[in-house]
Amino acid sequence: MIDFMKKNYLNRKILQQYYFNFYHKIFFKKKIKDFLEKGYYIFEKNFPFENINLDKYLKYPNHNFVAERKKIDLKDLKKIYSVLSEIGVISVIKDYFGTKIYSYDNSVLTLGNKKCYSDSWQPHHDSKGRRIKIYIWLDAKNFKTHPLYYLKRTHKQILNWEKYEQTRFSNIDKKEFNEIYGDKGNIIFFDTHGIHSHFKETNVPRSVIELTFEPFGLFNRLNYKNIKSETERLSLLDLEELIY
Ligand SMILES: [Fe+2]
Repeated sequence: MIDFMKKNYLNRKILQQYYFNFYHKIFFKKKIKDFLEKGYYIFEKNFPFENINLDKYLKYPNHNFVAERKKIDLKDLKKIYSVLSEIGVISVIKDYFGTKIYSYDNSVLTLGNKKCYSDSWQPHHDSKGRRIKIYIWLDAKNFKTHPLYYLKRTHKQILNWEKYEQTRFSNIDKKEFNEIYGDKGNIIFFDTHGIHSHFKETNVPRSVIELTFEPFGLFNRLNYKNIKSETERLSLLDLEELIY
């Protein structure tokens, strides 16, 4: 009985999901209606690149790979986050989570010319609880490259998983997914609790700035008990310290 309750009712990751749905029913925020509804969202303003030089993150001798990441320096991250704060992106993330946020794993992601049908190139959710990823698109729109695939509204589903295989859904047809192709400067949000990604079947390279955000609080993976050790383990950045 206790085991059953722990698994189904006292489980932090499930409580987080119930709390999220409940929170947004009570404190409905019109500004993020579209994002809440679908699980992904293209921001109304484009990212201004004027003061940021990203050349060093984009240089590769060739593109004979599936995907590569280059970590963004703290100096450049500060510039990026200041701009995102100014144009209102950070406030969207705060409204979405309704709590303090941390960021980590911030990098420039480049897709190469190889195809792939395994790992994160199959439909999946990230198995990390609720998080937001932002893609700031760095190339002109090109329908021959790999889009972001998202199965809308799946971010609202209450999911429980124990094994990696339970987070992969390779049998869902590509046609069921929304295809999101960015244009240079577009800022695309998506909730990684929803089912996203699909087989990489194109060979046209493209790059994005990829930023990851995670909420902090009682029902979250990052909470009062573990924040110190998780800050070290994940090199978490406190956005309030970083920007202000
Ligand atoms: Fe993912």
